[in-house]
Parts: sequence; C-alpha cells; structure tokens
Amino acid sequence: MNAEHRDILDAMNIVYDGANAGQSGPVMMAKIRRLGDITTRHFTDEEAYLQRIGYPEFDIHKGIHTKLLADFAAHTQAIEAAGGVPTGAFFTFLRLWLSAHIKCIDLKYGNFARSSPKAA
Ligand SMILES: [Fe+2]
Ligand SMILES: [Fe+2]
Repeated sequence: MNAEHRDILDAMNIVYDGANAGQSGPVMMAKIRRLGDITTRHFTDEEAYLQRIGYPEFDIHKGIHTKLLADFAAHTQAIEAAGGVPTGAFFTFLRLWLSAHIKCIDLKYGNFARSSPKAA
C-alpha cells in the first residue's frame, strides 16, 4: 500500500507544481484527473485488502474513502467550471484530507495488519 501512497503524493505534487507554474485549463485538469484516478484506484485496492484481512473498522474506513472521493469530484467540477484554475480550498482539501488520511488513518490499519494472522 505504501507504493500507492507514494504515487498519490507524487501526483499531488505534480498538481501543486503545475499550479505554482501558473498552469490552468485542460493541462491542469488532466493533472487533477490523474490524481483522482490514482486515488480512486488506491481506495479500491485498499478496501479489497482491508476486507481480506478482516479489518474491524472496514465500514468506517470505506465511508471515509467514499466521502473523500465525493469531495474530490465536487472540487474537480468547480475547478473545471472556473477554467481549470485550482482553488485555495482545493489545496486545503488535499493537504488536510488526503494527506491526513494517508499519514494517520492508514497507520491505524497498518497496526492492525501487523498483528493480524490473515494479513501475510
Ligand atoms: Fe491508503
Ligand atoms: Fe484508506
């Protein structure tokens, strides 16, 4: 899972760097969509893994993923409607929600996975 987390952070940095370079329009939208695709794929993989190891808080974790993806889609739509100029709210969302999710919430299941006999 950590390789996928790195892919998400890399895709996030590509969006940040593009915004800092003043990019907008289709170029920026492609970078945002790529981040969305990588995140969606990771959540799907992670949910399959959590189910397989019998993670006790699976439903809560899946609910957090669903909410994050819905918020991501709403931000993506708003940015596209504004000509592909990323908003400050979008970057706050990325920093607070996606980064925190990867660093903190996934740590919790990491601890469970290490103590679970089914996690090998
Ligand atoms: Fe994750
Ligand atoms: Fe997760």
